[in-house]
Amino acid sequence: MQTNQDVLLLAIESSCDETAASVVKNGREVLSNIISSQIELHAVYGGVVPEIASRKHIEKINQVIQEALNEAKVSLNDITAIAVTYGPGLVGALLVGVSAAKAISFATGKPLIGVHHIEGHISANYIENRELEPPFACLVVSGGHTHLCIVKDYGEYEILGYTRDDAAGEAFDKVARAIGLGYPGGPKIDKLSKEGNPDAILFPRAKVNGSDYDFSFSGLKSAVLNYINSSEMKGKEINKADIAASFQKAVIDVLVEHSLQAVREYGFDKFAIAGGVASNSSLRATFEAECKKRKIKFYHPSPIFCTDNAAMIGVAGYYEYIKGIRSDYSLNAIPNLKLGEKINRNNSFKGEL
Ligand code: KG4
Ligand code: ZN
Repeated sequence: MQTNQDVLLLAIESSCDETAASVVKNGREVLSNIISSQIELHAVYGGVVPEIASRKHIEKINQVIQEALNEAKVSLNDITAIAVTYGPGLVGALLVGVSAAKAISFATGKPLIGVHHIEGHISANYIENRELEPPFACLVVSGGHTHLCIVKDYGEYEILGYTRDDAAGEAFDKVARAIGLGYPGGPKIDKLSKEGNPDAILFPRAKVNGSDYDFSFSGLKSAVLNYINSSEMKGKEINKADIAASFQKAVIDVLVEHSLQAVREYGFDKFAIAGGVASNSSLRATFEAECKKRKIKFYHPSPIFCTDNAAMIGVAGYYEYIKGIRSDYSLNAIPNLKLGEKINRNNSFKGEL
């Protein structure tokens, strides 16, 4: 049941290979969450092909938006505002969602709110944890990003560390390709690791000189590739499950160590994870156990809200909406938008509220 006071956001996400739309009520209640995944299309090529992604988004976007409205049992008339991911991501993919959102905003006169994709990932934690409120520490681990940050307030972030080279998810995908598991590698390594010994091979845990909180995963990826090559040269058969489990443990060890150090140094009693890699079963179990030992409350979204979705954009968009932040029709796709950066947004929306 909707009332006049309810804020209903129609949210759109098309930054990579999922075309997604959602209706979110009052920032925390997801009325619909439609995701059209392109994974199978890109799997043939071993990774996301940007032009194919854009073309598929164009084909699917209206259908996905209509489905999101239908499932939420609302029409565009009931919607308060439109939130859309405008960066970071693939430019051609982002433009599809941004254009659709602008068109709906223009046709209906409803406000438009550009949302940062990573802010969306972090905000996914609010969906199933109604009591969670900033400030807290958060680790964002996705296919394109690895950030350790402090969520100071809704929409306000302080970045403590980030990856200097590959993102955590990228490392999972590259190692999966090297051992012949295919794309996307993360879920496949997660599954295969359960059959392997995480202590079978000691892969490096990289430290970044001069920074406690930055990450580097390219050396680990090279170490795995070298291990495979040298085994092949010696005619030794490789144990894929052991490689997967040992690699996964090396990534998790570094993510957990850096995160817990930050939580301790900044004195937080709340810690959250976000992004596609946050659905990794071993990462979740490790954080669960380590946080419990230290009496830190550990938050994580369900796997469906970890990987790309539009519900998380609706949640982040809601907190922008109530602060009065609006985007005008010059809103553009910004492929390399930094976390905390606010571009193309203002609070001078002249349309009807
Ligand atoms: O957040 P996301 O859907 O997209 C980006 O914004 O990048 O993250 C996708 C990444 C991919 O690299 C994928 O392999 C990884 O998340 N991923 C996982 C798991 N599920 C997805 N990595 C490790 N374990 C998983 N279970
Ligand atoms: Zn993402």
